[in-house]
Amino acid sequence: MRLVLAACAALAAMATADNTRPIIGILTLPTHNRPDATSYFPASYVKWVESGGARAAPVKFDSTDAQLKALLPSLNGFLFTGGGEDFYYPNKTLTPYSSLALRILNEVRAAAEQKQRVPLWGTCLGFQLLSFVASGPNVDDPVLSCPPFNSEDIHLPLDPTAAWKGSEFQRAAASAGGVDTILTTQGVTANFHHCGITPDAFRGNSNLTKVFGEPLSTNKDLDGKEFVSTIQGKDLPLYGTQWHPEKPVFEWTTSHHTNHDTASVKANSWTARFFVDQARLNNRSFPTLNAETSALIYNYEPHFTGAGGSYDEFEQCYFF
Ligand SMILES: *[C@@H]1O[C@H](CO)[C@@H](O)[C@H](O)[C@H]1NC(C)=O
Ligand SMILES: *[C@@H]1O[C@H](CO)[C@@H](O)[C@H](O)[C@H]1NC(C)=O
Ligand SMILES: *[C@@H]1O[C@H](CO)[C@@H](O)[C@H](O)[C@H]1NC(C)=O
Repeated sequence: MRLVLAACAALAAMATADNTRPIIGILTLPTHNRPDATSYFPASYVKWVESGGARAAPVKFDSTDAQLKALLPSLNGFLFTGGGEDFYYPNKTLTPYSSLALRILNEVRAAAEQKQRVPLWGTCLGFQLLSFVASGPNVDDPVLSCPPFNSEDIHLPLDPTAAWKGSEFQRAAASAGGVDTILTTQGVTANFHHCGITPDAFRGNSNLTKVFGEPLSTNKDLDGKEFVSTIQGKDLPLYGTQWHPEKPVFEWTTSHHTNHDTASVKANSWTARFFVDQARLNNRSFPTLNAETSALIYNYEPHFTGAGGSYDEFEQCYFF
């Protein structure tokens, strides 16, 4: 009897344990002037995910519907990277890249209806993409302003809004040795953007406020223009930063002023663990080990792009 009880207790503990093998899908970007590949992302995003304790799998923007049906439900979380890309054509139809982003957001929504917490993080362009698809998307009234911001290569402390204190993001950062204080007092958030979302545009879109509520932080560019810098879903595990948490730890170009000091590395590293911890809260998995293995980033090799060429802002990139 005792043995049976002990066995049940052990099983119960296993069933509620976190998923310790999360895999994050990273949306690829179309290449430009690169005949050897249709899509890419900087390797720093793979390293960021890996530094949080997850593995990465590319989600190619030009995947077929059948490939996506097999891949998306097996992943534990999703990442939209930085970069530069249009979300819709002049005729106002979505590009394949933003259509897939919308499909991924809907995947996160469908998972939530099944009581599965599948997080989605957007960084810089990815933050703008997440906001764009969550805003409807409404191509007649896009929330994105482009390009009014003078915020290339500036490193800022976040300006917290009233929603910052007590948010899930702030509380987790506080319990990680005062990361919330570093983020709001030191120039550790790396901004590289000339598009952005003004707080007025964000608050003025009812779809966005429904999904995200009040932004957690804003910042001002070099001309004093304010932009939204950190957002978090109200009910869904959605996270967006206009700033780049991967750059202080993994990008080293000397043409930028990225802050690599100890406090910056500590605070920016924490974001990866925070995000991956959300991905541990669901049990989604590939149907077979073979399917998992063939989806992983290990099937590709990063290219050293930091020495020059058209991708020289990035230390290394994956091309697909
Ligand atoms: C809109 O433009 C894109 C790119 O030129 C094209 O592929 C697409 O078919 C067009 N869609 C419509 C509805 O005209
Ligand atoms: C909200 O999203 C719906 C589609 O999901 C769209 O029809 C509507 O225009 C959007 N509202 C705004 C304010 O953009
Ligand atoms: C994993 O699945 C089991 C069985 O369905 C469930 O009881 C458990 O809570 C799940 N764990 C997570 C982290 O979702």
